[in-house]
Amino acid sequence: MKILIPGSFDPPTNGHIDVINRCSKIFSEIIVGVVVNPSKDSLFTRSERSDMLEKIFQDKQNINIESFEGLLVDFASKHKVDAIVKGLRAMTDFDYEFQMAQANSTLAGFETIFIPSSPEYGYLSSSMVKEIHSYGGDVSSLVPAEVLKSLTNE
Ligand code: PNS
Repeated sequence: MKILIPGSFDPPTNGHIDVINRCSKIFSEIIVGVVVNPSKDSLFTRSERSDMLEKIFQDKQNINIESFEGLLVDFASKHKVDAIVKGLRAMTDFDYEFQMAQANSTLAGFETIFIPSSPEYGYLSSSMVKEIHSYGGDVSSLVPAEVLKSLTNE
């Protein structure tokens, strides 16, 4: 089964990596879709975010990194994926994700499969990493080494 895991990944966190790795053991092919949202300021560019993910998953044959602009369902159709997969951290994620899942189903018939985050990453988000880092806090336990390097160079 070929699935799409979309997200901003600005930057990728250990929570994202955990979800992607767990999915790569369940599904035969994974596309990680890095969204480019022109109306949202991102810390890292499209290519920086994709490059970090490429390096992190360079040894995983069934994980491919792509970026996209526009509607998720158009990108999902282009890549002929069987389903969209989203990680859910807490019930606070649920309303928004449920709404998007229903919209993507209505727009183009795509099913969304939710996978719970591992308990140790239940609180973790890219925004939290950026905030801690912006105040000089240590994020080394929250992001992969590749991301830490990019944060330190930025
Ligand atoms: O990591 P994020 O920021 O929570 O990811 C959000 C993402 C990329 C899944 C969402 O913004 C998205 O699907 N963007 C593409 C535009 C789109 O299709 N919007 C309508 C969704 S119903």
